[in-house]
Amino acid sequence: MPEPQRAIFHEGSRHHHFLEYSLNGAADNAALAQSISAARKAAEASPVAMVVAFGPKAWRRLSPDQTPEALCDFQPITGANHQAPATQRDVFVWVHGEHHDDVLDLALAANKAFQPTCAPALDLAAFVYHDSRDLTGFIDGSANPKDDARIDAALVPDGEVGAGGAFVFTQRWVHDLEAFGSLATEDQERIIGRTKPDSIELEGDAMPPWSHVSRTDVKIDGVAQKIYRRSAPYGTATEHGLYFLAFACDPTRIQVQLDRMYGVADDGEYDHLIDYSRAVTGSYWFAPSQQALVALK
Ligand code: HEM
Repeated sequence: MPEPQRAIFHEGSRHHHFLEYSLNGAADNAALAQSISAARKAAEASPVAMVVAFGPKAWRRLSPDQTPEALCDFQPITGANHQAPATQRDVFVWVHGEHHDDVLDLALAANKAFQPTCAPALDLAAFVYHDSRDLTGFIDGSANPKDDARIDAALVPDGEVGAGGAFVFTQRWVHDLEAFGSLATEDQERIIGRTKPDSIELEGDAMPPWSHVSRTDVKIDGVAQKIYRRSAPYGTATEHGLYFLAFACDPTRIQVQLDRMYGVADDGEYDHLIDYSRAVTGSYWFAPSQQALVALK
């Protein structure tokens, strides 16, 4: 299989920076390839990691032969009480590493590289909160695939169009921590589907069908629809939440989970976590293999 962008799987970073861009109408493929190459060179000279991904229109234009058919713009989801907005953009950059200063240096360099061809639409610093907790206080990532299972969950397999690449989904969520924090711990645990101190999954009747875990732990024809999550908390004292970031071998895996969260799938239940947090962005991307990225002209 073509080598993936290795930075997807680099774990342990305490600092993150997310950039989303819209392509300038006048920028042609050659100019965009130049921006990508300049950003890659900056990453090679940096101690921190960078992943670059593209919205469906931009990637199809840059590399039609390497574009999986399933790559589509994110569409808004309208549930009974909640909506997931679509803010599909064209270029996504994720910088992450051990130190905030090194991460910002590379984010600045990547931004300079994309300035001639793109307009910034999201520019967000994020971080690891305590022992990998979401700002709600729950450990995030417990059920994430590990070791080689990450590759199976995240990458388009050998022999398929776009092999070694990954479908990517991002959503910026804004939490209402005051409302969530006013609930008893047992009620918070029922909403997530895990215990708060040590992230033990609730079992049997203790696990509500509307918990976050019940909505996102999905099997289709006996196959667990695993995705590889790399979300990070962000924010200030007045606005804060989670930048949700996930990689998948097939975008259906992500869409099925979203449809179940918003209550537009099968049993009509919705994820009660979204009573306490609302998505304000949403985009699908494709993170091509390293070879496909380097081959751009
Ligand atoms: C407000 C936004 C979100 C928060 C705070 C959040 C938080 C969490 C937490 C605390 C867990 C339990 C621990 C773990 O296994 O990681 C979890 C599990 C999970 N979440 Fe989320 N999440 C959010 C959004 C999403 C979205 C949008 C998706 C899918 C598109 C998703 C997919 C998953 C999956 C697949 C699991 C593991 C389920 C399992 O197999 O047990 N999450 N999330």
